[in-house]
Amino acid sequence: MLVLRTPSDMTAWSTQEAKNGRSIGFVPTMGALHEGHIALISTSVSQNDTTVVSIFVNPLQFNNQNDLQTYPRQLAADIDLLTSSHVDVLYAPSAEDMYPGGFATSIDAGDIAQSMEGEHRPGHFNGVATVVVKLLNSVRPDIAYFGMKDFQQLAVIRHVVLDLNLACQIVGAPTVRDEDGLALSSRNKRLLPEHRIQAPIIYKTLCDIASSFAIGSTDISSMKSQFVRIEESTDATVEYFEVVDSATLRKKAKADDASVICVSVWFGDVRLIDNISLARSIA
Ligand code: PAJ
Repeated sequence: MLVLRTPSDMTAWSTQEAKNGRSIGFVPTMGALHEGHIALISTSVSQNDTTVVSIFVNPLQFNNQNDLQTYPRQLAADIDLLTSSHVDVLYAPSAEDMYPGGFATSIDAGDIAQSMEGEHRPGHFNGVATVVVKLLNSVRPDIAYFGMKDFQQLAVIRHVVLDLNLACQIVGAPTVRDEDGLALSSRNKRLLPEHRIQAPIIYKTLCDIASSFAIGSTDISSMKSQFVRIEESTDATVEYFEVVDSATLRKKAKADDASVICVSVWFGDVRLIDNISLARSIA
């Protein structure tokens, strides 16, 4: 596996690949790789001539300095995993190369980035959109892969790519979960053992709500009350529970099968997000 460290080396490589008529699949990550990332990577490897994975813990998207400092970093283990997953190129730029002195441009994705994560993590999606556009410009992929686990992120990126006429297809991939239903996340490692035991209640409750919807319960305030009750039996603190349209992310007045439920829950100082589609296919 080739390791490239600078935007200019990355662009030189991708220009050559394009000249050779080889398609490029791209999976942007912040490292601390797990099976959720590997599922995206495997899809890319199966659909493209070459696959690039980036690892960059993007300071611009952290509104909380503690979260940035404690974000897990394990480059050596990640490199082993990427090599055994048949990745062709790891792109791992430094913060100095991505944001040299004088860097000033940022992308504002508008309304779609204001609710939910955008409301609770001000500036987060500007940081995500800015870094993703920079990465896409250097890697120049035919297809880029994102997880539905970060449902709003995927919607924001689709929106930005459309608005800016970026020549890249965006593919969303289903959420990979642990056996007990907890969505895999690099942050799960930071959960206290007792919180790791409690955390599957998030997805279990979302599934219960989706089952009630399937037999006719569409009232959002009842759904929310049911979800917030997880605070009674665990140490969870629910940050938000929203029922939104799957394409526009606008809040729904009543749940329907174009709706997605998005939640954010704190366990101690660890913030977990998850979602479930109320359509037949489950996110
Ligand atoms: P990161 O959290 O490392 O996630 C990288 C990609 O993996 C994202 O597209 C995310 O949605 C996906 N992913 C994470 N957990 C997943 C799971 N359990 N199942 C399926 N896919 C999963 O998201 C980011 O990094 C950053 O914001 C980034 C897009 C790289 C920009 O900095």
